[in-house]
Amino acid sequence: MSLIRIDVAAGSRSYPVLVGPDLAGRLKSHLDDLGFPAHRVVVSSPHVWRLHGDRAASALAGRTPVLVRDGERSKHLRTVSRIYDGLIAAAADRGSGIVAIGGGVIGDMAGFAAATYLRGIAVAHVPTTLLAQVDSAIGGKTGVNLPQGKNLVGAFHQPAAVLVDPSFLATLSGREFRAGLYEVLKYAMASSLSLFEHLQKNADTIARHRHAAALLPVIEQCCRIKAGIVTEDEREQGVRRVLNFGHTAGHAFEAVTRYARFRHGEAVAWGMLVACHLAHLRGRLDPGDRDAFGRLLFGVGTLPTIGDLRTSDVLDAIGRDKKVVEGRLNFVLPVGIGRVEIVQDVTTDELRAALVAAGCINS
Ligand SMILES: NC(=O)c1ccc[n+]([C@@H]2O[C@H](COP(=O)([O-])OP(=O)(O)OC[C@H]3O[C@@H](n4cnc5c(N)ncnc54)[C@H](O)[C@@H]3O)[C@@H](O)[C@H]2O)c1
Ligand SMILES: [Zn+2]
Repeated sequence: MSLIRIDVAAGSRSYPVLVGPDLAGRLKSHLDDLGFPAHRVVVSSPHVWRLHGDRAASALAGRTPVLVRDGERSKHLRTVSRIYDGLIAAAADRGSGIVAIGGGVIGDMAGFAAATYLRGIAVAHVPTTLLAQVDSAIGGKTGVNLPQGKNLVGAFHQPAAVLVDPSFLATLSGREFRAGLYEVLKYAMASSLSLFEHLQKNADTIARHRHAAALLPVIEQCCRIKAGIVTEDEREQGVRRVLNFGHTAGHAFEAVTRYARFRHGEAVAWGMLVACHLAHLRGRLDPGDRDAFGRLLFGVGTLPTIGDLRTSDVLDAIGRDKKVVEGRLNFVLPVGIGRVEIVQDVTTDELRAALVAAGCINS
């Protein structure tokens, strides 16, 4: 299978996203070809490195990797500090580059370290979870959590390259894989009827077998959508906001359950259902399209239950979301399959009705 190259032309930097099934074993030659700095520091996690370090070793350029823990609970400034220690120990200077090999947490932390170390050095992302491959590795958002909330500290720092190899995904747990698949459904419902139809036919095979041949076209299409959107709107002032479909309610579900019950994608899955019901209640989405989305979503697998959450907690958390601008609640709502609109006038009563209709609260 040949290598696919997708270019991101963001205002601050242009860079390639390479997608191919045997990238992992040839990281050095790809990075060399792309002119990535020869002085490289790999940042990964013990878990990812145990599974894939042998194959990815060519990225090391003779150095030991900086291994820091991943998972949401490790995504804080102390871990970033350990990455700085590793950079200093490797004598990294302004001409050095970080190669981040891991899921979205490693990518966000290593990206933030790259944005800030010596006021900014190069980073290449090698994403190893489905979520990171289709979403977080592209677009330059980096950052960490504070005890007060998620992603409260960060920077925009576009990578120099993104190398996507679906064969990493073979070792993901079923749950992590499905969590990423919900973000794939997000792209389909928010911006691609053809992807939606493709998933209607193939989601089951993709989720069960994860064959590179079935995964590659789906990952490629998501990367193309994200690359196109980031090219148009690097700093999320316009069209990039459509990628927040499902995230207004989704973030609230994560926060109310203290990030312990849902994987991010699972909370977004419930959030997308809420948005579909909301759109339908406002007369903007055909019930047939709403139900087609629901069937596709539940066809992927069962989601952690949600109906026990307290209505007031959920409504308060939605009200605190970053997407509240000047007191008005921003919502990305589908108006058909592959099309969304952004509305700013959702009332609490409408929201409550949609939460009930989606089965997220009782009344
Ligand atoms: N920067 C952005 O634009 C952006 C977009 C979406 C999400 N994010 C961030 O991404 C993070 C979530 O990323 P995630 O879901 O990848 O989580 P993660 O990085 O914590 O990875 C999840 C788990 O999968 C393991 N793992 C990683 N690769 C593996 C592999 N190939 N095989 C087996 N296990 C593997 C990790 O060790 C970890 O335990 C969140 O912090 C979120 O805020 C950022
Ligand atoms: Zn997301």
